[in-house]
Amino acid sequence: MRISELPGPRGLPFLGNVLQLEPSQMHITAEKWSRAYGERFRFRIGPREIVVLSNPETIAAALRERPDGFRRTPRLRAIAKEMGFNGVFSAEGDAWRRQRPMVMAGFDPGHIKTYFPALVKVTERFKLRWQRAAAAREAIDLQADLMRYTVDVTAGLAFGADINTLESDAEVIQIHLDKVLPALFRRLFSPFPSWRWLEERRLGRHLRALHAAVAEFIDQARARMEANPQLRERPGNLIEAMIAARDTEGSGLDDGDVAGNVLTMLLAGEDTTANTLAWMIYLLHRHPEALRRANQEIQGKDLQKYEEVSGLPFIDACINETMRLKPVAPILMLEAARDTAVAGIEVPEGTLLMCLMRAGATDERRFPDAHAFDPERWFSKNSNSSKRVAMPFGAGPRLCPGRYLAILEMKMAIAMLLGSFEIEAVTTPDGGEARECLAFTMAPAGLRLRLAARAKA
Ligand code: HEM
Repeated sequence: MRISELPGPRGLPFLGNVLQLEPSQMHITAEKWSRAYGERFRFRIGPREIVVLSNPETIAAALRERPDGFRRTPRLRAIAKEMGFNGVFSAEGDAWRRQRPMVMAGFDPGHIKTYFPALVKVTERFKLRWQRAAAAREAIDLQADLMRYTVDVTAGLAFGADINTLESDAEVIQIHLDKVLPALFRRLFSPFPSWRWLEERRLGRHLRALHAAVAEFIDQARARMEANPQLRERPGNLIEAMIAARDTEGSGLDDGDVAGNVLTMLLAGEDTTANTLAWMIYLLHRHPEALRRANQEIQGKDLQKYEEVSGLPFIDACINETMRLKPVAPILMLEAARDTAVAGIEVPEGTLLMCLMRAGATDERRFPDAHAFDPERWFSKNSNSSKRVAMPFGAGPRLCPGRYLAILEMKMAIAMLLGSFEIEAVTTPDGGEARECLAFTMAPAGLRLRLAARAKA
C-alpha cells in the first residue's frame, strides 16, 4: 500500500489538518483519529505528511530498527542543535553510537546503587520542604516541587553536583528548564518555522542561563579531575566520563558534545519523572484501595536501605499502571532513514512517522477493563508481555537509559510521601478530572497537593 492510499482526516489545502490540532491536545486528537481510521492512517501539518501508527508490535519493530532504519526527526535534530542540547537524545549514526555507551554506564544499576546515600539525602530535604508546607497548611504546587526533586537527583547522579534547589529561594534552574521543552514542542509541530522571529528573544534569556549553569557543572567536574587525576581512569559519574572521553585523542567528542549532553540529561530527567510522579500521586489519591495497599507496603520499611526501597512490588505495580494510563511520552516521532516498508505501507526515506504509544496500552483486547487504574494486573503472569505493549520508556537500542534511576527515584519519593504524610487533597484548577497537557511531555495541568503530617505509629 502507498501512503496516499491510507485513510485519514480531511484537511485544508496548504494548511492540512493543522487547524484540527490543538498542540497541547495533539495526542488525544491523534488517538481519537486512530479509533476512527484504524491502526495506520495519515494526516498533514502544513506541507508535512505524517503517517500514524498505533499497533504496538509495529511500533516496537520500527523502534528496534534504529539508528539505521529509523531516526529521530530532522527538525528535532535541528532544534536541539540550535538550542544547544544536541546530545545522545538527538544524535544519530556514529555520533549516537559513541555517546550511548557512556550514558548507559552513567545510569547503570551499579552507579545508581552507589549514588543511593545521596538520593536519601535529597529525599530527606524534600520531606523537610513538604513538612514546612504541611505545618503552614499551604497548598503545594505539585509539579514545581517534584521538578526540584528530579533536577537535584539528576544533577547529583550525572554531574556529582549538589545543587539543592529543594532548599533554595533563589531563581532555580527549573525556571529556565521549564521553558525549553514547551518551546521545543511548539517548534517541532509548527507548520512553518515561524519561531525564528517570534520566539527567539523570549527564549534566549532562559537558554543563556542554562548554558551558564551547564558550563559551571563542567568547570566543577574539570576542577575535581585536576585535583584527582585518577578520575580520568575511573570517572565517578557521567560528566566526568564524558570529559575524560572528550580529552582522549581520536574520541570524536568535543566540548559541544559534553555541554549538549549535560543539558540533555537535565531536560530528559526532569519533566518525565516529575510528571509521572504527579500522575501517580493524583491516581493513588483517587483510588483509596490502591493507596491503602501502597501505604501498607511501606510500613516498617527502612528508607535508608537500597534493598528495601528498590523492592516495593506493589508500588512498582502502581508505577507501571500510572505509566500505562498516563505515559508522559504518548507520542514518539520517527523519520525513515531509508526506503522501507512498515505495516505493509511503502515508506520512502524521509517519511515522518508518529507512534501512538498509549493506543495498545489502553486496548481492551490486551488489557481487560483497560481504562481502570488497577495495579493488581501487573502481578499476572503476562506482565512482561504487558510491558512490551505499554513501552513507557520506548524500545530497542534507544530505550530510555534513565529508567532505573527514574524508577528508584519514584519509589523513594512515594515511600517518603506515604511514610510521612496523609494526602488531604490533590486538586485540579477547575475541580474536575486532571487535564492532560502535552508540551513535549504529557503533564497533568496545575495540580495542587495538600498534606498533613502523619502521626507517628
Ligand atoms: C519516568 C521517567 C521517564 C520516562 C517515562 C522516560 C521515557 C523516555 C522515552 C519514551 C524515551 C525515548 C525512547 C525511545 O526513543 O525508544 C527516552 C529517552 C531518553 N531518556 Fe528517558 N524517561 C524517563 C526518565 C529519564 C531520566 C531520569 C533520564 C536521565 C536523567 C532520562 C534520559 C533519557 C535519555 C538520555 C534518552 C535518549 C536515549 C537515546 O536516544 O539513546 N530519562 N526516555
